[in-house]
Amino acid sequence: MEKEKYYITTPIYYPSGKWHIGTCYTTVVCDALARFNRLDGKDVFFLTGTDEHGQKIQRAAEAAGVSPKRYVDKLVDDLKRLWKRLDITYDKFIRTTDEYHEKAIQKIFEKLYEKGDIYKSEYEGMYCVPCESFWTKSQLVDGKCPDCGREVQTAREESYFFRLSKYQDVIEKLLSEGDFLLPASRRKEMLNNFVKPGLQDLCVSRTSFDWGVKVPFDPKHVVYVWLDALFNYITALGYAGEDDSLFKKYWPADVHMMAKEIVRFHSVIWPAFLTALDLPLPKKVFGHGWIMFDGGKMSKSKGNVVDPFILSDRYGVDTLRYYILHIVPFGEDGEYSNEMLVRSYNSDLANTLGNLVSRTTAMIDKYFGAVPEPKEDSEQDKELKELTSSLLGKVRVELEKPNVTTAMDAIWEVLHRANKYIDETAPWTLGASEEGKARLSSVLFNLSDAIRTCAVVLQAFLPETAEKILNKMGVKEQERTFKSLSKPMSSGGKVDKGAHLFNRLDIEKELKELAKIAEELAAEKEEKSEAGAENTASEEEVKEIGIEDFDKVQLKVGVILDCKKVEKADKLLCSTVDLGEEKPRTIVSGIAKYYTPEEMKGKKVVVVANLKPVKLRGILSQGMLLCASDDKGNLTLLKPEGDMPAGSAIS
Ligand code: MSP
Repeated sequence: MEKEKYYITTPIYYPSGKWHIGTCYTTVVCDALARFNRLDGKDVFFLTGTDEHGQKIQRAAEAAGVSPKRYVDKLVDDLKRLWKRLDITYDKFIRTTDEYHEKAIQKIFEKLYEKGDIYKSEYEGMYCVPCESFWTKSQLVDGKCPDCGREVQTAREESYFFRLSKYQDVIEKLLSEGDFLLPASRRKEMLNNFVKPGLQDLCVSRTSFDWGVKVPFDPKHVVYVWLDALFNYITALGYAGEDDSLFKKYWPADVHMMAKEIVRFHSVIWPAFLTALDLPLPKKVFGHGWIMFDGGKMSKSKGNVVDPFILSDRYGVDTLRYYILHIVPFGEDGEYSNEMLVRSYNSDLANTLGNLVSRTTAMIDKYFGAVPEPKEDSEQDKELKELTSSLLGKVRVELEKPNVTTAMDAIWEVLHRANKYIDETAPWTLGASEEGKARLSSVLFNLSDAIRTCAVVLQAFLPETAEKILNKMGVKEQERTFKSLSKPMSSGGKVDKGAHLFNRLDIEKELKELAKIAEELAAEKEEKSEAGAENTASEEEVKEIGIEDFDKVQLKVGVILDCKKVEKADKLLCSTVDLGEEKPRTIVSGIAKYYTPEEMKGKKVVVVANLKPVKLRGILSQGMLLCASDDKGNLTLLKPEGDMPAGSAIS
């Protein structure tokens, strides 16, 4: 039988600053939904990606002194690393700068133009650059952008327009009936604030900047970023491309997930675009709340960022996933604080979950060595057994809504009940006498099955922890599937009472440490912005290091992996240098008159490893190769004696 399909998407993110916990929110939620549906036997396609065009990105790149593509490439690399770190199982990562997407957008634009749904006219209105949104004067709040509260600017230009007004009835009907947009409160807000007052035609091209997809028949115009971005949901599947088999298989999407501020684009503009192309509409658009930080929305532009790499390295990736999935009430706004993170780690992960597993495995190990066969059941077991056997069904119902927080509640309800069951049955007393052993076998079996059931379901939410628990309990592969939950587990699995899943934290100490890290990060950021001017300095302006600074200088052995001439720069060579770090560095040096790129390859050199990065001819140089030079103008590279490996310290 063909599997039921499930297509879920995150918004595609703007690579315009450092990634933060807020960015992780939707993706972690979608990952849990994707994993759950896969485990539940569906054919899942999970899409995420980046929205890389537009004035905001162009400006950010200009400020950093690099080309927009170079600017976004680095941030996209970081984002992919972040998703890997957070165990995100996306099936595809789309970038709006991908060639196939750009070509498809041009085709789509042309098609809408040919149909008469896009036409040329003149635009005058208010534009919010950070939100890439146009507003009429009446929509502004105190003269500012109604979404982000920032200043708007007047924009007037010849533009292409999409006939959004033509779809007034379609959109009004869509939002008035059924549950296309969830939660229901957002549906009312959209209808009353945006749709009922009357939809205006939408400006879908710009001429004031050029970082975007060109309108194919009028290339001084670039396509409006929201048209470019929204269509990612189908171009990623091959729509208007060379092979549309994925589109045929997975479209329409089952859920478009996002936070509330972009619901308007997805529930009004997107269905109008699709209707104009005679395409089916997505089944659901869900607008969840924001993670707030000190009372404000955590965002890249406000600077109140919390680094997900640091937190997941310190507390484990599942601690972060747990916070997102359970502590933030899904659909509403929820606060992030270091204190809540550390407290929830201690109470929910270390105590409720970790202790339950430790106590159970320790008792099984002590009394039976392996999960025992249940020999003496009792009325006392009823509630725990019922909660255990109904868990998967409950979680499924919650995720269909979808609500990840209430799904997690159902799991924690079983865990709490299991802990209470230990208190009620007092297994250590049963274990103290031979007569208690039969009853003890049932108690420990029921606990094992409750833990195994929770862990099987938790594979969707906290995958790393779930796997550890299933291994600790000696659960067989075939009893880790959702289907296998229709029966209790088999006994006989060898348990491992080894290390704790989560070691308890000293809250005061942790909070101090986190505050210190935050201070260091803020100082680092300040230093970087001070160094900004230097980063764009020309080659001649590279600062020399004074002798008094010598002991601050970090020198290392480097190996040249590759070397190229720098275009239009006679003196410069650009080397790729292995310093024994995760990634090799790029170093630009003024030595092209003395060495050819071929001669450089394979050389061992001495590198100043902690020099502030400097931009030379548009290339960010991340260090300096040391050379000796005489007064006749000869120059040679310094090289370490003997066979020192890349990364060896020089002191
Ligand atoms: N590029 C557009 C989306 C185009 S989709 C066709 C965009 N990008 S964004 O980088 O600003 O991402 C916004 C989305 O990031 C939010 O809708 C939400 O999914 C996620 N979040 C960013 N900060 C967040 C919080 N503080 N809290 C919860 N989600 C957050 O808009």
